[in-house]
Amino acid sequence: MRKTIRYLTRTIRGKLTTIGCAIVVMILILGVLHGYMWESIAEIEAWRIHSLRTELLIHELRFLEKAAETRNPEERRLYVGQYIQKRAELVSELEALQGPRGIFVQSTTISTQADQENAIRKTFLENIRSLETRLRTAPGNENLIASEGDLLYALSKSLRAAGALHEKLLWKDVRRYQRLVLVMIFLGTSVLLLGIWIAARTTRRIQLVANTANEINRGNLNSKAPEAGSDELSDLAISFNQMTEKLIQEKEYSESILSSMGEMLVVVSEAGTILHANTACLDATGYERDELLGKEICLLIPEKDFCKDIMAGIKRYGVQKDSSIRVVQKGGTEISVAVSGTAFSSRSSSGTSKGAILVLKDMTDYNLLMEESQRRSTAEATAQLEKEKSAELTVLNQKLRETQAQVIETSKFAALGEMASGIAHEINNPLAIIHGKAGQLKDLIEVDKLDPLKISEIATKIEVTAMRVAKIVKSLRTFAHDGKSEPTQRLALKGILDDALDMCRERFKIHGITLIVPEISRGVVLECRGVQISQVLINLLNNAHDAVCEVPEKWIKVELDSNPDHVEISVTDSGEKISPEIRARLMEPFFTTKPVGKGSGLGLSISRSIIESHQGQLELDSESQQTRFVIRLPWRQPREGSDAPTTVNTTNF
Ligand SMILES: Nc1ncnc2c1ncn2[C@@H]1O[C@H](COP(=O)(O)OP(=O)(O)OP(=O)(O)O)[C@@H](O)[C@H]1O
Ligand SMILES: [Mg+2]
Repeated sequence: MRKTIRYLTRTIRGKLTTIGCAIVVMILILGVLHGYMWESIAEIEAWRIHSLRTELLIHELRFLEKAAETRNPEERRLYVGQYIQKRAELVSELEALQGPRGIFVQSTTISTQADQENAIRKTFLENIRSLETRLRTAPGNENLIASEGDLLYALSKSLRAAGALHEKLLWKDVRRYQRLVLVMIFLGTSVLLLGIWIAARTTRRIQLVANTANEINRGNLNSKAPEAGSDELSDLAISFNQMTEKLIQEKEYSESILSSMGEMLVVVSEAGTILHANTACLDATGYERDELLGKEICLLIPEKDFCKDIMAGIKRYGVQKDSSIRVVQKGGTEISVAVSGTAFSSRSSSGTSKGAILVLKDMTDYNLLMEESQRRSTAEATAQLEKEKSAELTVLNQKLRETQAQVIETSKFAALGEMASGIAHEINNPLAIIHGKAGQLKDLIEVDKLDPLKISEIATKIEVTAMRVAKIVKSLRTFAHDGKSEPTQRLALKGILDDALDMCRERFKIHGITLIVPEISRGVVLECRGVQISQVLINLLNNAHDAVCEVPEKWIKVELDSNPDHVEISVTDSGEKISPEIRARLMEPFFTTKPVGKGSGLGLSISRSIIESHQGQLELDSESQQTRFVIRLPWRQPREGSDAPTTVNTTNF
C-alpha cells in the first residue's frame, strides 16, 4: 500500500511537473508575444509622434510660405523670425523625443522608414537653411521671393508625399498588429483550454485512483481503478488493480487457511473487541460474521474478566494454554471448549494495535468420546467379568458333571447295594446246587456206585450252574465298570437287557413279582454305551419293583417297539398310578417319596441325563393306564459332522 501511494505520488508529481512546464512555456510564449505587442504599440506611438512632427513641419512651412508671400519686408521678417523661433523649439522637442525612446532602431521597417524620413527632413532642413540664408541676405528681392515660393511649394509637396507614406506604413502596421493580437488571443485561449482539459482529465483520473485506494484502505477490495487509456495513469491503475488482485488472493489464501481450521479461531483486541472469527467459529456458534465483528468477546464467552485474565496470562507467559471455558451459541446453548491464546501486535498508519489470537477447541466430541471410552471400559470390564464368570461357570459345570458322574456311580452302587441280597441269593442258589451235586458225587464214590451216566448228569448240572454264577459275576463286573468315558458301541440289545434283568430277576422272584420280557433276536444291535443303558433299565426295574411290592397283583412288563429311526423300550408295572403332583416332579433330582435311607431321589434324573446323552428321551407315558416309563433311543449315535442318526430297520426282534 505504501509503495502504491509512493508510486502514485511520484506519478502525480511527474504529471504536475509536465503541466507546470507546459504552463511556463506558454507564459514565455505569451511574454514574447506580449513584448512584441508592446514593441508594436511603441512603434505606433513613434509613428504618431513622427506624423505629428511632420504635420508641424508642414504647418511651419506654411507659415514660411506665408512669410515669403508677404510683400512687406517688415512683416516678412517678423514671420521669418517667428518661424526661426518655432523651428528652434521644434528641433529641441524632436531631439528630446528621439533621444531617450530610441525606438527607430528596433524595427527594420521602421528604421527604413526613419531613414527615408531623415533623408526628407535633411533635405527639408537644408532647403530651409538655404531659404533662410537667402531671406537674410536678400530681403525684398522679388525673384528670390518667387524662387523661394517655388522652392517652398516643392518642399511642401515632398513633405505631403512623405506624410502619405507614413500614414500608409502606419495603418499597415496597425492591421498587422490587429491580426497578431487576434492570433495571440486564439493561441492563448487554446493553450488555456488545453491546459484546463489536461488538468481536469488528469485530476479526475488521479481522483478515481485515490478513491479506489481509499476504498481498499477501508477494506473494500472489490473496488477497481479505471484502466482506460495507455498513459502512465492507466499503467498505474493496472498495477494498482494487479496489486489489489494479489491482495485479494493473499486474503483469500489466508482466509481459506483460517476457514479450513477445524478449531474455532477468534482474534480479539486488547480491549476485548472481536476483530476476526473464522468459519469454524461461525459454524459452531451459529452467528453470522457481521454479528460478531466489532462486538465484545463477552457475547461468546460470558465468563467475567476472561479477556483481562487471558491478556494477563499472555503477558506473563507469552501464551495462554488450554483452559476450559464455556462458549455460548446464538441460541443460548453452551458448549464446553478448551481455549489457548497467543498475543499479537500489529503496526499500521493509525498506530500499534495489540490483542490475542484465541483458538477454541470444541470439547463436546472429546467428552462424548471419553464417555464412550468409559462406557466401553465398563462394557469391557463387564465382558471380562462375564468371561470370568463364564469360566467359573464352566468350572462349576465341569465340577457338576463330575459330581453327577460320581452320583451316577454312587447311585449305581446304591442300586447294587439294593440288589445285593438278590445278587447274593442269585449266587448262593447255584453255589448250593453245585455244593449239593458235589455231595452227590462224593456219596457215589463212597458207595462205589460210579454210574457214568449219573456222574455225567451231575457234572453237567454243576457246569451249567457254575456258568450261571460266572454270568452273574460277569454282569456285576460289567455294571460296576465306569461307563461314563466308554465310547458308544454296537451291542446286542438282548445282551444289554439281559445284563439288567440278571441283576433283578432273583429279587423279583423272591417277592413274587412276575417278570414279562420279550423275546429278542441276538441280531438286533443298538449303538450305545451298554453299561449306562443297563443302569437306566435297572433303575426303572427297581422303581417298578418298589411300586408293585405292596400291591396284590405284582407284575412288571418289559416291551420293545421299533421303527426305522429308533427303538422304544418300555417298563410297565402293576403298581398304583402316580398322582399328578408326583408326576410333575418325578424327574427332579433328589425328589423321592421313599423313606430316608431307601431312596436318594436321583434315579430318574440320572436316567434321563444318560438317555439324553444318547440323543434319546425318557418319559412317563401319560396315556397309559398303568405306570409306564418309555426309553426312546436312536439305533445309531450321530457321528461328528452328521446331523441325524443313521437309521436301521430292526422291526423283527
Ligand atoms: N414305577 C413307579 N411307580 C410309582 N412311583 C414311582 C415309580 N417310579 C418312580 N416313582 C416315584 O418317583 C420317585 C422318584 O424316583 P427315583 O427313581 O428318581 O428316586 P427313588 O426311586 O425314590 O430313589 P433312588 O432311585 O435314587 O433310589 C419315587 O420316589 C417314586 O415316588
Ligand atoms: Mg429309583
